[in-house]
Amino acid sequence: MGMDVKQKFDGYADQYDEWFMKNDKLFTSELRLFLKVLGNIEGKRLLSVGCGSGLFESYIDCSNVEGIEPSEDMGKIAEKRGVNVIKYGMIEDVDLPENTYDIIYFNGSSSYMEDLTPVYKKSLRALVEGGKLILLDVPKESAFGFMYLLGKSLGTYDHPYLEGTMPELPYPLALASSGVWHSTEEKIEVLKNLGIKDFEFYQTLVKNPLYTNEEPEEVSEGYKSGGYVAIIAKK
Ligand SMILES: C[S@@+](CC[C@H](N)C(=O)[O-])C[C@H]1O[C@@H](n2cnc3c(N)ncnc32)[C@H](O)[C@@H]1O
Repeated sequence: MGMDVKQKFDGYADQYDEWFMKNDKLFTSELRLFLKVLGNIEGKRLLSVGCGSGLFESYIDCSNVEGIEPSEDMGKIAEKRGVNVIKYGMIEDVDLPENTYDIIYFNGSSSYMEDLTPVYKKSLRALVEGGKLILLDVPKESAFGFMYLLGKSLGTYDHPYLEGTMPELPYPLALASSGVWHSTEEKIEVLKNLGIKDFEFYQTLVKNPLYTNEEPEEVSEGYKSGGYVAIIAKK
């Protein structure tokens, strides 16, 4: 499985960043959500699980941000952007110290993990009391989730069924297809079973994907409409 995950993003680092640069309004909407849910990080110790190329981190002071990333391609760029990559590997294979981090976040990375229970359990253990586990993802039940699953099952976005519905530059099909898209309720259930009671939810990308890159969107509370949703779980 290690190799499998490496293959998922290795070779896509440039394409990944380029996609966000071309979809700049969509990126701004996601960045707004990211900044909103991280809040004030001054003096806090953070861990970014699946930090990728550190694209979002390049908009924050990441002197206290550590990263874990299986793809060397992506992680090397994150290091250049100032993320302290502590491990090139999968979260499943990392031992995290107990009661250490104020915030652990998964920005889009849960969507590439099959079994969320062990990785969230490990992360919660590594948080200080009152620390936050923050999960940002495309929900499986959102329009974006449907689009990726349809692309995956058809093997293309370029299908008559999808005519007139697709954004100009959809997320690379290979990355959409290798995703293990989870619903928000599924992640909430996992966290509840791990003892979490205190939740907050924020969302963005509420427009249909066809129109998402027309202008940046605001962040709103909740998780039932967004194409990008953040769960904040307090330990
Ligand atoms: C959609 S990208 C998000 C990257 C970055 N966080 C961002 O927001 O730009 C998902 C990232 O999760 C990483 N990833 C996938 N499976 C992982 C695992 N089991 N443990 C840690 N990271 C993983 C991928 O290599 C990839 O960089």
